[in-house]
Amino acid sequence: MWVESVRLRNFRNYFAEDVSFSPHINLIVGSNGEGKSNLLESLFLLATTKSYRQAHEKDMVFIDRDNFYVSGEAVLQGNIKHTLEISYSQKQNKKQAKVSGVPVVRLADFIGILNVVCFSPDDLNIIKGAPGLRRRFLDILLSQIDRVYLSVLQQYGRVLRQRNECLKAVQRGRMRPTEIWPWTEQLATLACQVTERRFKAVNELTTSYAAISKGINQGKENLSLKYMSSLVKNSHLYTPIEVTESLQRRQTEEVARGITTIGPHRDDLFFLINGLSAADYASQGQQRTAVLSLKLAELEYMYKVTGDYPILLLDDVFSELDQKRRQLLLATLSDRVQALITGTETLEWPWSGDREYCNIINIRQGKVI
Ligand SMILES: Nc1ncnc2c1ncn2[C@@H]1O[C@H](COP(=O)(O)OP(=O)(O)OP(=O)(O)O)[C@@H](O)[C@H]1O
Ligand SMILES: [Mg+2]
Repeated sequence: MWVESVRLRNFRNYFAEDVSFSPHINLIVGSNGEGKSNLLESLFLLATTKSYRQAHEKDMVFIDRDNFYVSGEAVLQGNIKHTLEISYSQKQNKKQAKVSGVPVVRLADFIGILNVVCFSPDDLNIIKGAPGLRRRFLDILLSQIDRVYLSVLQQYGRVLRQRNECLKAVQRGRMRPTEIWPWTEQLATLACQVTERRFKAVNELTTSYAAISKGINQGKENLSLKYMSSLVKNSHLYTPIEVTESLQRRQTEEVARGITTIGPHRDDLFFLINGLSAADYASQGQQRTAVLSLKLAELEYMYKVTGDYPILLLDDVFSELDQKRRQLLLATLSDRVQALITGTETLEWPWSGDREYCNIINIRQGKVI
């Protein structure tokens, strides 16, 4: 899949701009603060309805305006074209999306039409940062390729909030402990569905992750991934009944704390180097290799599931890779993947002969120049 062009209206520092892309490599060049990341953000928005920088919609509206509008001409599998539109009004605090002119009933229906893999400097925190970052990585990946996952995840979030409210109500003596049980049962079923899907995805991801990282570090280390779940013991995923029982055994403790202590909202993804925790042992360079491998594995995994390569968004990370890793990255892309790569003018780009293959987009103050 690829995006032919985007139309930006009052989006970030783009007042009114249309940008066309090549189906292969697009270099987005400009000085700091000109709008390179904003352009990538607009594509991420068209794929996921959200910002990869975890920004709120109101921050994406051009200063002093009320609403933004972003649309993209996407070419999907089988050469099918779709116009994807997303708009947000600050006054109404409402986001709306359309697919080829037809409004979607739920925003969730919009997610996954366009798929992206995004790699930005913040992703380097994936290994050493909080577990929430790693869960978010899995959630964004799975939400794009598995409609059921997104729906189950949203339900899980809702039931979890309700159950935690109940735990607090019991704690304050406003509810009887048995009134939590229906929530516990619902939560257990959804928790198993979320966990099972994450578990399966990580198992599949880790095979290409190991192979890709071997290529990058010339087989020096063995990199692997492991999904650590509170609902898995000796590779056996608890059944909903077992989760319910486990939650009921913890109920007194959970009432005292006012939170649900097991479930996919507490799980983690472990990065291992030669079987040891990368969070504790990995050097800066090793972390970079691990995250790059992870993103490339994500690309392959999405391809395997959907039969189509997602669009690769590389924000600022290209300049941070050494020449060998850059070349490897470009070789991996070959002509199968549309990539949008940002960099400052000073960067020495590693390709020379194949200029037609590579579209250069110069950005200054929210305009293509
Ligand atoms: N809602 C908004 N309205 C207007 N301008 C905005 C808005 N949000 C951000 N900006 C502006 O956008 C610019 C930042 O854009 P962006 O993050 O895309 O820069 P960049 O080209 O990626 O820079 P760098 O090379 O430093 O990463 C800043 O000048 C900022 O003031
Ligand atoms: Mg930037």
